Amino acid sequence: MSVAKKNPRKVTTHTLQEMKMRKEKIAMLTAYDFSFAGIIDSASIDVILVGDSASNVIHGHETTLPITLNQMIDHASAVVRAVKRCLVVVDLPFGYYQGDGKTALKSAIRIMKESGGHAIKMEGGRFIVDYIARIVNAGIPVMGHLGLTPQSIYKFGTYSVRAQEEAEAEILIQDALSLEKAGCFAIVLEKIPAELAERVSKELHIPTIGIGAGPDCDGQVLVTHDMLGINKEFSPRFLRRYASLHDIMTEAIENYIKDVKSGNFPSTEESY
Ligand code: KIV
Repeated sequence: MSVAKKNPRKVTTHTLQEMKMRKEKIAMLTAYDFSFAGIIDSASIDVILVGDSASNVIHGHETTLPITLNQMIDHASAVVRAVKRCLVVVDLPFGYYQGDGKTALKSAIRIMKESGGHAIKMEGGRFIVDYIARIVNAGIPVMGHLGLTPQSIYKFGTYSVRAQEEAEAEILIQDALSLEKAGCFAIVLEKIPAELAERVSKELHIPTIGIGAGPDCDGQVLVTHDMLGINKEFSPRFLRRYASLHDIMTEAIENYIKDVKSGNFPSTEESY
């Protein structure tokens, strides 16, 4: 019997905390629409992230910076309509929270009210920790995100591994502790050395979810389009492909075109 059938109970932020205590790994994937979210939720994922990676994989932008709050709300609403069990976390997009706590809170409230998502995610450490506390105090669960934070790509200048030097690693540990103190219920650790991620995961009481951060995080996340092989060009070392959907879809579409052109589709049985 599948995990979902045995345990149809909805996943909450408390469930994730209990999973960390039981040393049960948390599985998270991205989704941006109704159809994908339905499949992912039915397969018993713990968390769906409506990531601002939608900016890249859905809207075709080079970075996550251009996506708007309204676009994120549209994606999240579609995902929420499909989900029966998992926790839905929605990224606060670039430009809607970095300026001040009041704007950050207003953006977070819009996501919760207009999409029905269950929590939000914000990138950054010490510079936004007060805004996070304000949002948590308003009753909105917040997931943090440290390490390679793609909204800061123009500051970093490269998508390479972060916190390899002792000084940056120390700042990351302090940031993680501050996020926990501010009330975050979990933290994504992106593209940092496995040893550092292990240390952070041991020091924190809240779960860490890794992407390119080694095996010792409390959970893992991948971008669904990448792990399904829809996106063929992106192949960083941390990515494991579980399917080659690009090839499967191309073959199916080519066969359809052939059948239409040859008059082989539709057949008598497929006609009224
Ligand atoms: O936007 C996103 O998909 C993310 C994950 C890569 C963690 O932030």
